[in-house]
Amino acid sequence: MFMMTEETQSLFMATMEFMAVLFIFVIGLAVLAVIVIFIFDITQTKSAIRRNYPVVGHFRYYFEHLGEFFRQYFFAQDREEMPFNRAQRSWAYRAAKNIDNTIAFGSSRDLRPPGTVLFVNCPFPTLGEDAVEPKQVTVGMYCEKPYTTASLFNISGMSFGAISKPAVLALSNGARLAGCWMNTGEGGLSPYHLQGGADIVFQIGTAKNGVRDLEGNLNDEKLKEVAAHEQVKMFEIKMSQGAKPGKGGILPGGKVTEEIANIRGIKVESDAISPNRHPDINSNSDLLDMIARVRTVTGKPVGFKAVIGAYGWLDNLFNEINERGIESAPDFITVDSADGGTGAAPMPLMDDMGLPLRESLPLLIDKLNEHGLRERIKVVSSGKLITPADVAWALCVGADFVTSARGFMFALGCIQALQCNKNTCPTGITTHNLKLQKGLNPENKANRVMHYAKNMVKEVGVLAHSCGVKSPRELNRMHARIVTNNGLSVALSELHPDVEKKMQ
Ligand SMILES: Cc1cc2nc3c(=O)[nH]c(=O)nc-3n(C[C@H](O)[C@H](O)[C@H](O)COP(=O)(O)O)c2cc1C
Ligand code: SF4
Repeated sequence: MFMMTEETQSLFMATMEFMAVLFIFVIGLAVLAVIVIFIFDITQTKSAIRRNYPVVGHFRYYFEHLGEFFRQYFFAQDREEMPFNRAQRSWAYRAAKNIDNTIAFGSSRDLRPPGTVLFVNCPFPTLGEDAVEPKQVTVGMYCEKPYTTASLFNISGMSFGAISKPAVLALSNGARLAGCWMNTGEGGLSPYHLQGGADIVFQIGTAKNGVRDLEGNLNDEKLKEVAAHEQVKMFEIKMSQGAKPGKGGILPGGKVTEEIANIRGIKVESDAISPNRHPDINSNSDLLDMIARVRTVTGKPVGFKAVIGAYGWLDNLFNEINERGIESAPDFITVDSADGGTGAAPMPLMDDMGLPLRESLPLLIDKLNEHGLRERIKVVSSGKLITPADVAWALCVGADFVTSARGFMFALGCIQALQCNKNTCPTGITTHNLKLQKGLNPENKANRVMHYAKNMVKEVGVLAHSCGVKSPRELNRMHARIVTNNGLSVALSELHPDVEKKMQ
């Protein structure tokens, strides 16, 4: 048997002691590193995830990085996830961070499925020096205070309630920096909308939050108070929303804080369910009367927002406008896609009700043309228009403006965790939990909102120039083609012929 000499024994003991000290030292260093990272994470303001989930939040980036290598074997491909795939989200994140948004090697997009949009490049693209900024558009030419703006990409309605105070602050400041407008959504006007200094579109939801009396009727005095803010440029009557046509806004009780209840004029901590339509708008005539009333009281442009399903009513509406006189028309119509987003909605309405924008937008534009109202009524379009190609398609079809909700949520750092209805949003956007809101730094995210909006307009310009026109608003139906069932594409102008040409 092996016997250790005294000398070997003491060497062995010394080695063991050294190993023990080294072990304790390494563990100590690791603990120290964790403490340093923890302090760094909770004090930094750039990443909501790391601020809300110090230390462990880093794993997200690590796994995301590893995902680039393993996804092709195990997980969803770049173009597979819903509602927004990784390629779309990555574009939005990178645009918001204002970092290099080029990709390498070749497109991972399959250009064969029916419905794919292809733009038509011109052999002689517009030279950089010939490009011009998007031109201004005036909304509400017959009202006392028309609204003129060049901004073609704007922030769609998300109520203070559905989204948090820091999110509203970041959006309103970012909108001011980018020179675009922000829609309040149906939750009324909060001080945070005004604080940012952006142009505001005030939405009158079915509960008339912020401009209602105790019974929920529209109150002209409150309407006047809202209109008195110089920043409030237009009013939008919400008839319906893509994600839940025929259902009013739903704000779960957990999100109805005292402040939100006060701004809306509702009860604290109980579910706020708006009526499923405006009780006082029961026909096209009622709608036109309401538009006239709001316009008279406020002196500002008034339009309405709707998702289109049945569409015969549009002909009746436009006929009645022509009978009453062109001044009676809504100053704009916002058409929302059936696959639009929401804070909370029943699945059958979210999944199965209404027409997607690719059908409803050309339909609306064509009907306006048929009735000779295209110049009078401006068209705002929304619904999954979060990348330059989406926005360029809408402009080709004929939209005057595009708005986005979820694109701007990505700019705020949304990771598509799909918990917006639970008050547990890990990025602080759709929660009133102060601990989780801590991660959303309004100043930092306002810059991202600005960059996202500006880079969007810039890259829509890139597409427009490649099509041979000088600015995005010159895009038309000749500039895009749609892949059909046989795998070949047809021009948008053939699929949806311009009504004026059809009628010749
Ligand atoms: C969190 C959240 C809250 C919303 N709140 C409203 C609202 O108050 N009023 C409204 O008309 N639309 C609301 N929407 C719908 C958006 O304004 C928009 O019409 C829809 O999401 C389509 O745009 P997107 O695909 O860019 O998100 C909300 C959407 C989200 C995601
Ligand atoms: S991170 Fe998730 S819960 Fe938060 S806004 Fe995005 S989808 Fe909604």
